[in-house]
Amino acid sequence: PQRYRIAALPGDGIGKEVVPEGLRCLRAAADAYGFVLDVEEFGFASAEYWLRHGEMMPKDWREVLGGFDAIFFGAVGWPEAVPDHVSLWGSLLQLRRGFDQYVNLRPVRLLRGVRGPLRDHGPGDIDFYVVRENTEGEYSSIGGRIFEGTERETVLQETVMTRTGVDRVLRYAFELAGSRPERHLTWATKSNGISISMPYWDERAAEMALRYPHVTADKDHIDILAAKFVLQPERYDVVVASNLFGDILSDLGPACTGTIGVAPSANINPERVHPSLFEPVHGSAPDIAGRGIANPVGQIWSGAMMLEHLGETAAAAGVLAAVESVLERRPDVLTPDLGGTATTTALGAAIAGHITSGQQRKEG
Ligand code: NAD
Ligand code: IPM
Ligand code: MN
Repeated sequence: PQRYRIAALPGDGIGKEVVPEGLRCLRAAADAYGFVLDVEEFGFASAEYWLRHGEMMPKDWREVLGGFDAIFFGAVGWPEAVPDHVSLWGSLLQLRRGFDQYVNLRPVRLLRGVRGPLRDHGPGDIDFYVVRENTEGEYSSIGGRIFEGTERETVLQETVMTRTGVDRVLRYAFELAGSRPERHLTWATKSNGISISMPYWDERAAEMALRYPHVTADKDHIDILAAKFVLQPERYDVVVASNLFGDILSDLGPACTGTIGVAPSANINPERVHPSLFEPVHGSAPDIAGRGIANPVGQIWSGAMMLEHLGETAAAAGVLAAVESVLERRPDVLTPDLGGTATTTALGAAIAGHITSGQQRKEG
């Protein structure tokens, strides 16, 4: 059978609660669909590691992780122990950059069985992708403080947009849009206010659009785009955005589908020179950590995206089908964010069980 080497990094908080459920479902999928996952778990990229070693990851993390087929990541951040910018810039953001995962693909879908907060919108009405630029843009470490401690104290942080960096994420988004039935792409902008970088982004997007005449492309300013996500989510098919705008849209989108607890993401190096990284959109949720009530679906769906990336397409579809089926038919195992009273483990185990039995039904 095909074997895949997976590095698992649970991280902090609920990352440590949902990753085991993700792995449980991945193992069920491996058994049901006939492949092998060799999973190695690592404790770095966590506050605990930082407290022990004074750094978030070992210096040789590129060598340690570089040989894996994929990275299955939970969430990082424990602001009580480590300032967030220290823990995130020392881990997740390094991984995205170091492994050149320049596409952050974040599906937004109203799943069967989940009631969203928007009136008159059911499953099928909300089904789009946020394609987020993942290695440059507003997330830059260029800048600093000057005249510190004086009346003139000034803080600067540069936005970086390179032609290569902008074009490659746009190209990915246009290709994705071209492969979908609606063939519609919207790019997020703010060229009216952010007067240097955003007009450049618009210029590159307009030029890319010429190469994809079969894709209908338009743009929205980020402010009205946020409003339209809530008022008319059915308009969207593929939404491509800079790093910061994409970050915001990828929490807003899932909120429109009921809970951010279900939202998955794939941090992709499309050239496959480096491993890609799969993680839920949400963070370590210190407010509910340790209570066993976190929704594991975002982690499990991220696992399905990982299987898809590895080429295990049937298994990926099987995992997602199991998620939807359980959400629809098993109100007894829903976590509190989904309106239920069940635990992380109960929901994870029900989905894993369904992956196994769903595949048996197909074979039988
Ligand atoms: P968060 O996503 O951790 O939590 C936001 C809210 O959503 C909280 O009320 C939380 O309880 C709830 N929530 C999140 N995931 C849930 C789930 N699976 N089930 C049920 N409820 C869920 O965002 P935050 O509070 O802004 O950040 C907390 C920490 O996580 C910070 O340290 C932050 O930097 C970090 N963070 C990490 C990542 C990552 O590793 N990818 C992403 C976002 C935030
Ligand atoms: C995400 C997170 C991260 C980001 C933070 C934790 C740095 O919010 O993955 O969406 O902004 O990219
Ligand atoms: Mn985010």
